[in-house]
Amino acid sequence: MPMSFSNGPIRTICCIGAGYVGGPTMAVIADRCPAVQVTVVDINQARIDAWNAADLSQLPVYEPGLDAVVARARGRNLHFSTAVEEQIAAADMVFISVNTPTKTKGHGAGQASDLRWVEACARSVAKAATGHTIVVEKSTLPVRTAEAVQSILAAADPKGARSFSVLSNPEFLAEGTAIRDLEAPDRVLIGGEDPAAIEALAAIYASWVPDGRILRTNLWSSELSKLTANAFLAQRISSINSIAAFCEATGADVREVARAIGTDSRIGPKFLQAGPGFGGSCFQKDILNLVYLCRHFGLPEVADYWESVVQLNMWQQHRIAKLVVQKLFGTVTGKRLAILGFAFKADTNDTREAPAIRICLDLLEEGAQLAIHDPKVEPDQIERDLRLSASEAPDAEAGPTRAALSGEGAWWTSAAVEDALAGADAVLILTEWQHYRSLNWEALAPLMRQPAWVFDARSVVDPAVVTAAGLKYWRIGEGQV
Ligand code: NAD
Ligand code: UGA
Repeated sequence: MPMSFSNGPIRTICCIGAGYVGGPTMAVIADRCPAVQVTVVDINQARIDAWNAADLSQLPVYEPGLDAVVARARGRNLHFSTAVEEQIAAADMVFISVNTPTKTKGHGAGQASDLRWVEACARSVAKAATGHTIVVEKSTLPVRTAEAVQSILAAADPKGARSFSVLSNPEFLAEGTAIRDLEAPDRVLIGGEDPAAIEALAAIYASWVPDGRILRTNLWSSELSKLTANAFLAQRISSINSIAAFCEATGADVREVARAIGTDSRIGPKFLQAGPGFGGSCFQKDILNLVYLCRHFGLPEVADYWESVVQLNMWQQHRIAKLVVQKLFGTVTGKRLAILGFAFKADTNDTREAPAIRICLDLLEEGAQLAIHDPKVEPDQIERDLRLSASEAPDAEAGPTRAALSGEGAWWTSAAVEDALAGADAVLILTEWQHYRSLNWEALAPLMRQPAWVFDARSVVDPAVVTAAGLKYWRIGEGQV
């Protein structure tokens, strides 16, 4: 049965934005609500083509389990299209799931969210919608954005022949576990002013989410809860990373400290994994947005408090690059270093704000030769992230490369871990891919130039195995007793 609300049944959903959130979120809605036709639209033709690819390994987003969900629903009630206005016109409910990056120019540059894509969506809906349309903010937005969306929609139809209800329904999925998070969410949050619209959206989620987990709030609480959730999560990581540095200085072990504090039920065990700093498209941008808003609303002390979470994160990334240089006798110029993992976390091909970027850039600046391995990230993406062309992988027979001799930094990708490690003075583990947990260090160690180091920024390898293989070993948050 189609969902129903006061103005009639919801049969058609249009989601604007076929990205990391729009694609998987709509795939799960279509899978769980076979009576609702769901179309994901985007202005990016290549992305839509990839969502429509016959070969499911070519989907534009890599998420465990996504291919199976898409296979069940695509062509039945899940569609991908570039016909944005046509699909808006046909929809009872329109989700806005477009990018909201940090502004790079003008007022608020470096902190405020760039809302131009959200505004463009609101204008497309204002132009093309028909009848009554529920507009759902799925993107993460500054608190009170719904006010702007509402006024664009209201101005579009002064005679009131068409009508709109605006809801906030932020997304809490994490990359790498998106399908699990969508299928069994801790909660679904719906903020709004129109009870009928709220219940229409709640009815969609009720197909698979227990009602007790569907939270209803006012619009502003919903918008602000999303920024707050990300700020709290990121703050935990900066907190444990700050303690990791302190452990290294004092002989404590951050894993033991995390276990000791995490067993306190008020603190809890999750999100206490020290590492090279948080990455991902959202933590930094959402905290900076919060910082900007706090300053805007006259709360500079609150802004400073949250800004320190981001500052500590950047410090952690530079700190790791610096200590690698220090351990390698104060110089990495011309030295070959293997980088294992470029994605910002395991089980995703996303590199946005990955700690590997800043760490690699620091090492390249020092003249290092980086052999980069990642099971999912494409070389083109690494090239865009490092803003430096890839070099040919050096040939062991041919001796040092021109860049190595001149002291310039250079990088290339290696398809196998063994190739990345060949001739390297050190290996840095920057993403916690499962594969890196079970490497055969006894076989790998002889490939490296001795004395060789393993820098384990993710605590994924067994120190005893690495040291038994004759390698020097450093891991995050482990002090020398
Ligand atoms: P994304 O960059 O992967 O995808 C956004 C898509 O929107 C792009 O394909 C772009 O072409 C399209 N787009 C932009 N303007 C458009 C327009 N006017 N018409 C049609 N298409 C348009 O972004 P994302 O990672 O999916 O994030 C989307 C939002 O969700 C952001 O606000 C983000 O903060 C939030 N969010 C992201 C995650 C995550 O894990 N990535 C999780 C929760 C929330
Ligand atoms: C995060 C949130 O977890 C989601 O709830 C939210 O929806 C999303 O941001 C968003 O708004 O975009 P995501 O960035 O995909 O999800 O991944 P996380 O698992 O949160 O990891 C973020 C970063 O923190 C990664 O670099 C990860 O390696 C790091 N991290 C995470 C740690 O260093 N230690 C931890 O204990 C946990």
